[in-house]
Amino acid sequence: MSRLAKKGIINLKPYEPGKPIEEVKRELLLEEVYKLASNENSLGPSPKAVAAIKKVLKDINRYPDGSCYYLRVKLAEKLNVDPENLIFGNGSDEIMEIIVQTFMNQDEEAVIAEPTFLEYRLIVQASGAQIKTVPLINFKYDLDGMKRAVTDKTKVVFIANPDNPTGSYLNDREITKFLDGLSENIIVVMDEAYYDFVDAKDYPDTMKYLKDRNVIILRTFSKAYGLAGLRIGYGLANAELIDCMNRVRQPFNVNMLAQVAALASLDDSQHLKRSVATVLKGKKYLYRKLDKMGLSYIPSETNFILVDVRRDGREVFEKLLRYGVIVRDMKPYKLDSHIRVTIGTQKENNKFIEAFKKVLTEV
Ligand SMILES: Cc1ncc(COP(=O)(O)O)c(C=O)c1O
Repeated sequence: MSRLAKKGIINLKPYEPGKPIEEVKRELLLEEVYKLASNENSLGPSPKAVAAIKKVLKDINRYPDGSCYYLRVKLAEKLNVDPENLIFGNGSDEIMEIIVQTFMNQDEEAVIAEPTFLEYRLIVQASGAQIKTVPLINFKYDLDGMKRAVTDKTKVVFIANPDNPTGSYLNDREITKFLDGLSENIIVVMDEAYYDFVDAKDYPDTMKYLKDRNVIILRTFSKAYGLAGLRIGYGLANAELIDCMNRVRQPFNVNMLAQVAALASLDDSQHLKRSVATVLKGKKYLYRKLDKMGLSYIPSETNFILVDVRRDGREVFEKLLRYGVIVRDMKPYKLDSHIRVTIGTQKENNKFIEAFKKVLTEV
């Protein structure tokens, strides 16, 4: 029956999410399991978000506000843009899907790095549009190569900055050079899911491109804001592009709980600060430990680290599970000798290092 699926779907490998804690507990009969696999916020959501959700629980018989009015107004003010420059999605994943559906015809191409965040490829392939991939150089986007890959058929370029799974970033000069002279028929998606964790001083302020460039910036409440389970992200672009995307967007795509939680989270700058500080501190700690263990890793501007384990990464991943630590196997990204570990709390980072040391003697 699978022959009934659209062209492109048969060869599609479904996205493999990080293993859920409950599944590992159940399967391996473990009581304590630490998940460092999906780049979530280990501190949890803001208590203000939880309180806001409790307040509206009695109203969930109603449809949510399809325009995300209060969130839109607040975020527009915070980012110094017009409310019309914003679109909200069921996670930023959904906005990627809306972008492809809105702008890509079947014979048009998306230029994508290889490897990078897997959703870009999946979404474009499922839509039936074309993909052109450009390999990373030294675990970093090859923007010159991506520019050379652009043709008359190119409609969208996806740039994860910072990137997942490498954690590397592109600086202001590199992005400016890439955009310089790029055809006006091309939409550049700047996926800034890890924006809040960036420490690098030369990281680009892409907001400056919104006025006169076909740039769509994507950000999310899933990472630094700790709302991954609710699914809410947003896109920023010029109002005309947003208007086109709103024609495709489902009318109630962002649920009520996500909207109030995101709104309340914007008011909790302390929680955001604590979350970012935890990641920066944890990153230094993990770098130190990995250095001592003689392992190399990619310097990261995100809340995760890509580590070269110099052996089969999947085996390391599986053995770590037995010690109750879930990291991410990098086989789907064709980085077979790597694992990706999310930076957690001090306790979680410790557990990871303890288990990791044991595993490396076994594999
Ligand atoms: C680069 C990148 N973009 C987007 C997302 C998805 O974010 P959301 O939870 O908002 O769909 C992720 C999640 O891991 C990511 O790594």
